[in-house]
Amino acid sequence: MGTEVLVTGGAGFIGGNFVQYMVEKYPDYEIYNLDLLTYAGDLTKHKEIEKKSNYHFLKADIADEKIINELFSVHNFDYVIHFAAESHVDRSITDPGIFVQTNVLGTQVLLEAAKEFGITKFVHVSTDEVYGELDFDPTTFFTEDTPIQPNSPYSASKASSDLLVRAYHETFNLPVNITRCSNNYGPYHFPEKLIPLTISRVLNDQKVPVYGDGKNIRDWLHVIDHCIAIDLVMHKGENGEVYNVGGHNERTNLEVVKTIINTLGKSEDLIEYVKDRLGHDKRYAIDPSKLESLGWQPTYKFETGIAQTIQWYLDNKGWWERIISGEYQNYFENQYSK
Ligand code: NAD
Ligand code: DAU
Repeated sequence: MGTEVLVTGGAGFIGGNFVQYMVEKYPDYEIYNLDLLTYAGDLTKHKEIEKKSNYHFLKADIADEKIINELFSVHNFDYVIHFAAESHVDRSITDPGIFVQTNVLGTQVLLEAAKEFGITKFVHVSTDEVYGELDFDPTTFFTEDTPIQPNSPYSASKASSDLLVRAYHETFNLPVNITRCSNNYGPYHFPEKLIPLTISRVLNDQKVPVYGDGKNIRDWLHVIDHCIAIDLVMHKGENGEVYNVGGHNERTNLEVVKTIINTLGKSEDLIEYVKDRLGHDKRYAIDPSKLESLGWQPTYKFETGIAQTIQWYLDNKGWWERIISGEYQNYFENQYSK
């Protein structure tokens, strides 16, 4: 049997892009997409790769120990690339429990199965948010040695899972890597997040909610550059190491929103300043030099990547219109009626 790769969360935004990238790049690898299909999971994006014989889908909850153990006993997974998570900060403020269940307990269930059944490498896809926030001094960056200081229930749950991954390496010698990436953007980004939310609302001539004064900074990376980084780490990462992923693309939220509005030729009057997010982190910025020493460089410039992404949303209206017309509409109305 060839190499078997278990990708958790492969029906979501980044996991979905990663599954497509891997199925195409490694036709001799068997790629297993394991996903619970929560509100954020969607399989219609995989219409093309579903035809390929090396793509497989498994519907399961990562926190369900019995099913996860059964799957590990039937298959012979060489790699576990772990994306599955509750991923949206605002949802973690209104409903934190599911973040602990999925992000903490689910990760522990996977680690235990990987330890019991044996694997070549467990890559835990984490986030720069575990480091907390930076101030606006542009010479400061998150490095792998920055202390873990999460501020939201989401980032606290991710930090907890990072610590479990570290513990399984230290205690059981499980071969692991942790990646901590900055904000991703690109195709199939769920329209609750700032960039796709702005694109979809501007296209519908609806107001765009900007939290606080819009001066918070995020460090944006194209999702394909994140996929390339994970491919590199899974094959070349040194066991037990953490790798930060980011492309030095800092933008204020206001700059991002204005770029989208201007690209689409609409009026900046669409911007609506709304109540700030609780515990809103000021600034994220990544020092990616450790990953660069493995040979990684981002391939997208932000200007090109954002223009292509806007075009993708224009060309794939059916995908996001279906999402924003369903249950998501209730979430959005509750979120902004407070
Ligand atoms: P997403 O919300 O788009 O997708 C999450 C996927 O996980 C969905 O397909 C969902 O159905 C699945 N899932 C949720 N709970 C599950 C469970 N209990 N069992 C199995 N599957 C389950 O998330 P995303 O933005 O693609 O993020 C993926 C990962 O990358 C997350 O771990 C996130 O913390 C991390 N990350 C995200 C970003 C970003 O900018 N989006 C940046 C850095 C790291
Ligand atoms: O840094 C990596 C993280 O990036 C990932 O770990 C998370 O999973 C991912 O969701 C993302 O978190 P953010 O909170 O940075 O992303 P979001 O798109 O929710 O918000 C980006 C910025 O825009 C943030 O400063 C809040 C602001 N914002 C967001 C929304 C949804 C607004 O001003 N208005 C909005 O409506």
